[in-house]
Amino acid sequence: MSITNNDLVKLAFSAMQNSYSPYSHCKVGSALLSKNGKVYLGCNVENASYGVTNCAERTSFFKAVSEGEREFSKIAIVGGVEGKVKDLFMPCGVCRQVMAEFCSGDFEVLVASSQDDFKVFKLRDLLPHSFDEKNLSNGE
Ligand code: THU
Repeated sequence: MSITNNDLVKLAFSAMQNSYSPYSHCKVGSALLSKNGKVYLGCNVENASYGVTNCAERTSFFKAVSEGEREFSKIAIVGGVEGKVKDLFMPCGVCRQVMAEFCSGDFEVLVASSQDDFKVFKLRDLLPHSFDEKNLSNGE
């Protein structure tokens, strides 16, 4: 049975429970669906050296890529202070850049404001005119 958008959002909520966020108290969870049909959960993992923090979305991507996955269809994201989800918790610029490394503009980003309410964005709308491998080619 295939995973619905609602399933993916609910999985992101469950992933949020594992958030390690003693500094910001912002709990974030994500559920990344690969084209092979596997789901990779992620949460934010903070550090006393703040810049070392890893966002939930990158946790999902790095787990998946490290297990050999390269193609993805969508990710669900949820977050809020103390895990209280009120608004859309949009992915940061660094996470959008990581998405762009592996995903085309059609990649779907589901951002939830509750277990039953979420908005669907296309990566092309979240990171237009992105920097990518084409910029590293000398054209030969
Ligand atoms: N955070 C994420 O997990 N994903 C994002 O896209 C934005 C920010 C986390 C990092 C940090 O632990 C907390 O939210 C506050 O910035």
